[in-house]
Amino acid sequence: RSERTLAIIKPDGLFGNHMDAVKKIILESGFRILKEKIIQLDEESAASFYAEHSARSFFPSLVQYMTSGPVLVMVLGKDDAVSSWRTLIGPTDASKAKITHPQSIRAMCGTDAEKNCVHGSDSPQSAQREISFFFHSMPSAG
Ligand code: CMP
Repeated sequence: RSERTLAIIKPDGLFGNHMDAVKKIILESGFRILKEKIIQLDEESAASFYAEHSARSFFPSLVQYMTSGPVLVMVLGKDDAVSSWRTLIGPTDASKAKITHPQSIRAMCGTDAEKNCVHGSDSPQSAQREISFFFHSMPSAG
């Protein structure tokens, strides 16, 4: 069933020049890039996007990381896009992904549990919220 998910190439991905390689994998894996924009998140928007993690010890560091440079935000379309993109990016902790999922995108361009290069919505419900967050409620960001 055709579905949409939200993908982000995070600041470490853009600074590390991984944008073209990641987009190549996306297209070769049969996704369509339905929308895309490069934006600079401010603290408020990064904290709001990751609100579900606000009680975690890594939250302040996560907000700092996600505001450390521009991000590329994309809406991807495909059958079962949510689970398909999550499979392609691999486990959250990129240092573990390098061992257990060496072909994954996070193994290719991520570093550790925080600096993991890319984001993917974890459910169709999250995808809907996250797509709205970036493409309906942030007009100033493009
Ligand atoms: P993401 O999939 O975008 O969702 C939440 C983010 O929080 C995650 O990627 C990482 O960037 C970060 N994160 C998750 N777990 C940890 C952790 N244990 N330590 C530091 N950062 C984390």
